[in-house]
Amino acid sequence: MRIAVVGSGYVGLVAGACFADLGHDVILVDNDDRKLAALKNGQVPIHEKFLPELLSRHRGHRLTFSDDLQGAVRASSVIFVAVGTPPTERGEADLSYVESVAREISGAVDGYKVVVEKSTVPVYTSEWVRKIILRNGADPDSFDVASNPEFLREGTAVTDFLFPDRIVIGCDSERSAEVLREIYAPLTDGTYYQRTDAIPQPDRTSIPAPIIVTSTKSAELIKHASNAFLAMKISFINAVASVCESVGANVNQVVHGVGTDSRIGPRFLNPGIGYGGSCFPKDVMAFRAVARECGYDFRLLDEVMRINEDQRERFLRKVRSALWTLRGKRLGVLGLAFKGGTDDIRESPALFLVQALLQEGCKITAYDPAAMERTQEMISSNIKFASSAYEAATGADALLILTEWEEFANLDLDRLSHELKYPIVIDGRNLYDPETMAAHGFTYYSVGRAASHPDGVPAAVLKNGNGTKKA
Ligand code: UDX
Ligand code: UDX
Repeated sequence: MRIAVVGSGYVGLVAGACFADLGHDVILVDNDDRKLAALKNGQVPIHEKFLPELLSRHRGHRLTFSDDLQGAVRASSVIFVAVGTPPTERGEADLSYVESVAREISGAVDGYKVVVEKSTVPVYTSEWVRKIILRNGADPDSFDVASNPEFLREGTAVTDFLFPDRIVIGCDSERSAEVLREIYAPLTDGTYYQRTDAIPQPDRTSIPAPIIVTSTKSAELIKHASNAFLAMKISFINAVASVCESVGANVNQVVHGVGTDSRIGPRFLNPGIGYGGSCFPKDVMAFRAVARECGYDFRLLDEVMRINEDQRERFLRKVRSALWTLRGKRLGVLGLAFKGGTDDIRESPALFLVQALLQEGCKITAYDPAAMERTQEMISSNIKFASSAYEAATGADALLILTEWEEFANLDLDRLSHELKYPIVIDGRNLYDPETMAAHGFTYYSVGRAASHPDGVPAAVLKNGNGTKKA
């Protein structure tokens, strides 16, 4: 199948590389010349497991890059639209990029084409895309508009694409449904997984992938409802964590007890400093806005957002209660990305907290395995960047864990304690067991669990009684 993917950001680039791996011929289109030049040169603009392998496998053969949208449309039978849909000031999705792409596609429809929304868009977008293409002169029988939402998590986007829980295709004609079924056939009939060069199957996935065919409107809603539900799950457990803190219960035990109910499930129940990233915050807001426009006041989603914001404020209060005053304090920070496994700092709760602490007069030394370069472009004063977690901790009044990177969960605790000026750890991601931390001499604060102290004695007192470093 000959496929054009418009927009080579996180979503488009991963989708394009994976379509090529399924055996299709793909043209990736973007209007950012610098990005295109980098991609053509063999650079990989985002940190994503298996993406470098797929790009080098297919670049220049099954996968080409272009700024010529109309040329790509003429050369393809299916066009996936994966341009950004950022939030407007009122929280709605800004669909102007989608509209301009639809306009351009219209002028190049020279035979039957299926135009597929891959970006997360509100319900009714497919109707608008259809209208725009018609308004600009395309014949009504010469194209269909379909919706094929992606459920890719950053960091595991390639395996999420190739080993999905489900593939959702929203089509209002059998002809377009058939085209989309054919594109995904290697995943749904399992032939992809028999190949010796297939990307390895991750745990907890089942193959082959089921395909769910719906109307376009239902598919658009499936995407928004899925993201809103996951965000709600996170806010729910964060609210439960706050109750745990008030009554002295342990949220991990509560999660275990709740999550083993197969109707609820254990995933996406990790309490922390709130959800971030380019999707959940934007999609919850956009779903809220489109529901209102369609006549339903979805106030549950307001509360999901409120709890999420409150979670960061609660963490800041925790830092204050651990350190008393903040001005001039030196803090080690582990994690800047919005979650582990990615270099993305969009809507990162970690970055929000770093900025808030800098505003309060703290001095920060931060370490993140992938997101330091991007952070450096945004913040430069009163922040230093370290080359390891231990270096970030050196001489700090306390260490903050803000991103759930795997390597932060396996630190050498004795070494960490030696590096810190005071052995205080404030963990926004619950990566450690409070008792283990206390046994290693730390005063340890986390989310939804009681703070732990070595022998119940606060840290500053424990260290020689005068707050100086242990001998
Ligand atoms: C974006 C949306 O934010 C997300 O909701 C949606 O599901 C998919 O698209 P992402 O891939 O992360 O996600 O966006 P981004 O990294 O901003 O990539 C968009 C790309 O489209 C950029 O490379 C941009 O240069 C390109 N683009 C944008 C075009 O080629 N043409 C345009 O008119 C606008
Ligand atoms: C999300 C959806 O999972 C994916 O299906 C969709 O296509 C795009 O949006 P992503 O934004 O990459 O993916 O990250 P995700 O792993 O969902 O995490 C989002 C945020 O929630 C992160 O800030 C993460 O730290 C936080 N989170 C996640 C929690 O706080 N607790 C959890 O249990 C899970």
